[in-house]
Amino acid sequence: MSQSTLRFRIAPGGSLNGTARVPGDKSISHRSIMLGAIAEGTTRVTGFLQAEDCLATMNAFRAMGVGIEGPEEGRVTVHGVGLRGLKAPSEPLYLGNSGTSMRLLSGLLAGQAFDTVLTGDASLTRRPMRRVTEPLRRMGARIDTSPDGTAPLRIYGNAMLRGIHYDMPVASAQVKSCLLLAGLYAEGETSVTEPAPTRDHSERMLAGFGYPVRRQGSRIAVRSGGLLTGCDIDVPSDISSAAFFLVGASIAPGADITLRHVGMNPTRTGVIDILRLMGADIELLNLHEVGGEPVADLRVRSAPLRGAAIPEEFVPLAIDEFPALFIAAACAEGETRLSGAEELRVKESDRIQVMADGLQVLGVDARPTPDGMVIQPGPMSGGEIESHGDHRIAMSFAIAALRARGSIEVRDCANVNTSFPGFVTLAASLGLGIEALED
Ligand code: S3P
Repeated sequence: MSQSTLRFRIAPGGSLNGTARVPGDKSISHRSIMLGAIAEGTTRVTGFLQAEDCLATMNAFRAMGVGIEGPEEGRVTVHGVGLRGLKAPSEPLYLGNSGTSMRLLSGLLAGQAFDTVLTGDASLTRRPMRRVTEPLRRMGARIDTSPDGTAPLRIYGNAMLRGIHYDMPVASAQVKSCLLLAGLYAEGETSVTEPAPTRDHSERMLAGFGYPVRRQGSRIAVRSGGLLTGCDIDVPSDISSAAFFLVGASIAPGADITLRHVGMNPTRTGVIDILRLMGADIELLNLHEVGGEPVADLRVRSAPLRGAAIPEEFVPLAIDEFPALFIAAACAEGETRLSGAEELRVKESDRIQVMADGLQVLGVDARPTPDGMVIQPGPMSGGEIESHGDHRIAMSFAIAALRARGSIEVRDCANVNTSFPGFVTLAASLGLGIEALED
């Protein structure tokens, strides 16, 4: 796939109006395949995110002998093979851009009877993997990385894993989930303590598959010897994809949109808390629960935003939404400060540097710091933005055009398909003047 040929061109100004449903939650979609594959019996998924990242997970399990039907309009059927039923893949597992696939699979595969190699694209093979390989090795896993601790990962089979307790140095749901999945195969109990709450979809979904997970305060534990039983999973819309429109409708004059069936898991709703702190008008309607995950319709109307000092406890709860939130900050009244967010530097791109660079192109005073950013809002011009192949950077600058004085062109946008297929069509249907251009 050529990453550099797709560009977005977005006309300045305009507004957002109407109702839409953004695609399914990426984190939940990955986990539905992973847990469905190692469950006994059949798992039926609806609302599955048919995007490249989740398809990479799906293909990896197909390569390990799991029968999977779909995806077809978000419907997937996984014929589980049980905890010990995966088969050796004949080739390295290529995971594209997907950090979630690589980090969660490394834990799940550390306990198998066969060797695997995990690899990915240029961005994924630059991202830090010692955060998972180091605790997995303490459990007895045998894993090689490149000398600088990155993929490809070579995982050797037949390791005798033993449960450990791990005090996580980083608030990362990927590390937590990796170790819990390894714990399904380890002797005794495996537990982690998280330094701050992170998304808990793995814990919720394990429980949904009938696998006991114990949580005491910030400590989460599993024991081996249990069984997962196939179940039905209704994947809500991804709040991380909704975030572009929460920001877009907040900053665009006269906007009034409703986003349907959005996941409202409290470990994911930091973006709503931060936007409300900035004065956003976001209403939760029809709040209810589907399959262990809260969902709601979100009505968002244009509102005058003010800058804020973002409380650090919100950082892990909004970790993927900062590119969009930086655009909100650029359109607010008064300074916004973010700190405690050094993790943003090791996402699909260095999101602190890349967002600061892009905002500066548009004439905004955005100063990167080692662990965050200080933004002095001001009028935004148009300009050409480098997304560095990062889906969330591309979509954030597309939304910025709602308040820019000239058109914005975003380069290197093909990776929007890793999380949000149909972004251009959906954004245009709400009123954004966006077109996708191929070179
Ligand atoms: C994810 C966890 C987060 C997030 C990523 C998805 C998950 O990563 O950024 O997009 O599904 O567990 P970290 O756990 O590394 O913060």
